[in-house]
Amino acid sequence: MDMYDVILKKRRGLELSTDELEFLVNGYTRGDIPDYQMAAWLMAVFFQGLSLRETVDLTMAMARSGTRLDLSEVPGVKVDKHSTGGVGDKTTLVLAPLLAACGVPVAKMSGRGLGHTGGTIDKLASIPAFKTDLDIDTFRRQVKEIGLAVTGAGPELAPADKKIYALRDVTATVDSIPLIASSVMSKKIAGGADALVLDVKTGDGAFMKEVDAAVALARVMVDIGNRVGLKTVAVVTDMNQPLGFTVGNAVEVREAISTLRGDGPADLADLCLALGSEMLLLAERARDRRDARALLAEALATGAALDKFAAWVKAQGGDEAVVHDPSLLPRATRQVPVTAPAEGYVCHIAAEKVGRAAVLLGAGRRVKDEPVDPAAGIVLKKKVGEIVSEKEVLAVLHTNKDHFADAEALLLEAFSLGPTPPPAGPLIHYLINANGVFPYGEVGA
Ligand code: URA
Repeated sequence: MDMYDVILKKRRGLELSTDELEFLVNGYTRGDIPDYQMAAWLMAVFFQGLSLRETVDLTMAMARSGTRLDLSEVPGVKVDKHSTGGVGDKTTLVLAPLLAACGVPVAKMSGRGLGHTGGTIDKLASIPAFKTDLDIDTFRRQVKEIGLAVTGAGPELAPADKKIYALRDVTATVDSIPLIASSVMSKKIAGGADALVLDVKTGDGAFMKEVDAAVALARVMVDIGNRVGLKTVAVVTDMNQPLGFTVGNAVEVREAISTLRGDGPADLADLCLALGSEMLLLAERARDRRDARALLAEALATGAALDKFAAWVKAQGGDEAVVHDPSLLPRATRQVPVTAPAEGYVCHIAAEKVGRAAVLLGAGRRVKDEPVDPAAGIVLKKKVGEIVSEKEVLAVLHTNKDHFADAEALLLEAFSLGPTPPPAGPLIHYLINANGVFPYGEVGA
């Protein structure tokens, strides 16, 4: 087989065989196929697309390129959850202990922050002494013992995706639906879960700015999962403003703990109940959505979910005292209020700008492997639809930096104020499963 022919075939819009896709992924992972040929092929895919069969084959070739985790010795249906990346998205911190408290084992590999979007591993790393790099045996043992473990995805998980993603990043080929779908799903399949709930974000702060594109991506990922025996459902959710009030690391852990106490922001709590219900249904722990919500509400009300969070922190070596006293989490030396330039209604909070401002304060990385400041971040005081008066505080910057005028300016730019409140949009747009696409508001119990 010759890479030149594989590129030419795709450039002409023809369908590649399973063997050709396997040859391409294995050859590139081993280093036999050079970057320039892979880059040419990626650009051909960007313009010509891939059929569902090709996308499934590409996904499986990438999933097989490294270790596939075997979780069969953990009893029960293992349900994973994945978000395509958002700003202020701390749902995993709430859902993992909540589901474990409902008896569903959670074995999750998570990522670090990417661009303006945060990552679960960076948030967990803000808990003093919390270990985010469990070896596979410890990871499996912990899931068996306490029902949950979350670790960073090591280099052995889908190495083909890591190499291809790095090349896509510098060749303007990231935002292709079959390439994103195969990248995400290869890692989820290699992660060894039995079922998966995808939270596909749409809006200003998401990869997919338009709802239709998010639905199209969700459909491809749901189809891939269900074709290869990973029961998958997706919800398409709003990222036109940050989720909750906090963006950063320790500030987000604090908000997750409040949510586990039943005291969290409405949008975060609602999304956790919606995602958690789908996870309980896939795990066959609930008869229907009403039953699922009742189980989740009970685990929150009895404190079982918060206790599970404490057990999780302890099991991963972290200081569990933070669960009962969140003031023990890292706190920045400066807390700088950003005030409204005029009175009006908050019409929009550009999530991407808020995410970028948080990175400038130290909460994320501007260059690969830059250290992250666990205390840095942003706490919003106003959300979309609220009224503010001139000079009222819109948000507070948390930083250890001496110079933060750029972050301040970006945050102010993120807020659009207007004379009337904006129309309220849905938090959850659609549910997508093997049977089709359903407006979430019409999905019954
Ligand atoms: N996240 C991934 O893991 N892969 C992509 O291609 C895009 C976002």
